[in-house]
Amino acid sequence: MVGAGISTPSGIPDFRSPGSGLYSNLRQYDLPYPEAIFELTFFFHNPKPFFTLAKELNPGHYRPNAAHYFLRLLHEKGLLLRLYTQNIDGLERASGIPASKLVEAHGSFASATCTVCRRPSPGEGFWADVMADRIPRCPVCTGIVKPDIVFFGEPLPQRFLLHVVDFPMADLLLILGTSLEVEPFASLSEAVRSSVPRLLINRDLVGSLAWSPRSQDVVQLGDVVQGVEMLVELLGWTAELQDLIQREMGKLGGRDG
Ligand code: APR
Repeated sequence: MVGAGISTPSGIPDFRSPGSGLYSNLRQYDLPYPEAIFELTFFFHNPKPFFTLAKELNPGHYRPNAAHYFLRLLHEKGLLLRLYTQNIDGLERASGIPASKLVEAHGSFASATCTVCRRPSPGEGFWADVMADRIPRCPVCTGIVKPDIVFFGEPLPQRFLLHVVDFPMADLLLILGTSLEVEPFASLSEAVRSSVPRLLINRDLVGSLAWSPRSQDVVQLGDVVQGVEMLVELLGWTAELQDLIQREMGKLGGRDG
């Protein structure tokens, strides 16, 4: 289970870190309150703030970091049952984790839908408008096209229901870079069997690991990349992870995330 904290090392602000989090830096959007940027009623009233944010978050601008590539390495080793992410930045896909192993619980920018006639909209047209500061509109009915990001109050993608099978099967739960503030995602942290260890790697102690700790919980507080690198070292996978990152960075042709 991961959240925005695994993408801050890639340069994407999280939501709730005091000062640096997105919700502390929305003053220029003139919102009634920060979360309005992800609310449908506000979006239909004024879609500009969301699309300005979308332009900033444009997936092409960022690269995965060691936390993403650690999760990719787990997959390569046949140890990743599923990765549940709240992130909409697409960095899990960019790290090479196959869609079959991913549940993007809060959606992603990978697809977009007309808010009026519900026609799917091709990504390239959508991004051309967003990057040119135009509100993307449906070519058929001229309704506003919204990326398939889950706004507050909207249903989560069907794939989220995989948790009903996955979590009872898991024999280890990793929780990386999330405040565990948003439901129903946060409750997944309680969905593993009581005998299953839960490892939290996060700047602060959060969610049920704070208010309902279990005997098998392990908590590594601090920077998520440092915490992951300590775990990788203990596993003896440091060289493998570095090789993977070098190979993938070469493919992405980008600076080290
Ligand atoms: N290392 C370790 N922890 C970090 C780092 C880092 N480099 N950067 C941030 N964190 C921690 C923060 O301290 C915080 O506990 O990650 C957590 C991020 O929490 P949020 O900003 O609330 O992000 P997230 O948990 O993903 O938010 C959940 O809220 O607004 C909605 O839909 C949005 O998906 C989002 C959901």
